[in-house]
Amino acid sequence: MTHSGPEVVDPASVETPIGCVDLERARANAKRVVAYLDRHGLGWRPHIKTHKSRLVARIQLDAGARGLTVATLREAEVMGSLTDDLLLAYPPVGDAKLQRLLRLPAEIDLKVALDSVEVLEPLARAAAQAGRTIGVLVEQDVGLGRVGLQSAEAVADLARRTRDLPGVSFRGIMFYPGHIRMAESQQGAHIEGVSSSVSRTLAALRSDALEPEIVSGGSTPTLWRSHEVSGLTEIRSGSCIYNDREALAVGVADADDLAYTVLATVVSTAVPGHAVVDAGSKAVSKEARGDGEGYGFLLEHPEVVVAGLSEEHGVLDIGASEWRPRIGERVRIVPNHVCVSVNLQDRVLAIDAGQYRWMALEGRGRGAWVD
Ligand SMILES: Cc1ncc(COP(=O)(O)O)c(C=O)c1O
Repeated sequence: MTHSGPEVVDPASVETPIGCVDLERARANAKRVVAYLDRHGLGWRPHIKTHKSRLVARIQLDAGARGLTVATLREAEVMGSLTDDLLLAYPPVGDAKLQRLLRLPAEIDLKVALDSVEVLEPLARAAAQAGRTIGVLVEQDVGLGRVGLQSAEAVADLARRTRDLPGVSFRGIMFYPGHIRMAESQQGAHIEGVSSSVSRTLAALRSDALEPEIVSGGSTPTLWRSHEVSGLTEIRSGSCIYNDREALAVGVADADDLAYTVLATVVSTAVPGHAVVDAGSKAVSKEARGDGEGYGFLLEHPEVVVAGLSEEHGVLDIGASEWRPRIGERVRIVPNHVCVSVNLQDRVLAIDAGQYRWMALEGRGRGAWVD
């Protein structure tokens, strides 16, 4: 696919720091995910929080994604213009959000993940008043300890409550194995733990004639082992569209699969052992991976780590490198966590078929989206 519309940009004329996306790599990443899932009879409903872009969501849908997952109402508004199969993987709390949710086009098959009666009942009331039926995925905690019900029985109770209410329909369950971030080869016992939690929940639901149509899980660190979770019907893996330093460290992607970097310029070499670039925490994001591991590395010099970040300064540790940076030289940073870095960009520079163009991030921000 090539762009139409935006003009070709000369990257040398673009100010840094700026996020850059390689659309050919993103397309290849999407195809690889769908090919793997097809082999295992699983669907892909990618979380679009990674890219927040309609163009990239279109790539995912064209590759075979069955729908899209969003976290915010803004993302739902933007992505609702591309697909009629949307999952809000975040509990909508408060009337303002409920009203906004219910203003999404009626033809969208809308599903919401939640873990409490306090979220379910106002949602059901508002939906019934609006003459809609919203699908519900009951969320279970499988080890992250962030949100999600704590037992199979609690999931079955909320599913039963959903079945009995007008305005909502029970569609299935959701979980997010975000606690599994170790090397892929060491994930076995953790994935078995997730699989047995999910199996227990499915048994509890079935014993009450509650057949979940959707069992939604998945993450990028566990991407290629998704099929080991029994009963799964789909995954929401999101950052695999671009990949990042974490994906390389876990072993689920290679350097050739990296589709996002932050282009930066060396602005100082005055301090021995360091070079400073103009990409600080406001461009790269200050997501740590572990003490002393820094915040990213240079694509061209992988031994060079972004050791420190102030808001507008990125401090590169060049102690272990032969590279002698010059002021004005440009480098590309692979951030630890791609999603947060993308969210810091006003727009990104996308390369496709050798040409650069600006790409909008329509899903950024919280305000209502107007096409
Ligand atoms: C609920 C939920 N689903 C899916 C994802 C996607 O995970 P990943 O980016 O590891 O693919 C996330 C990421 O934070 C998430 O919070």
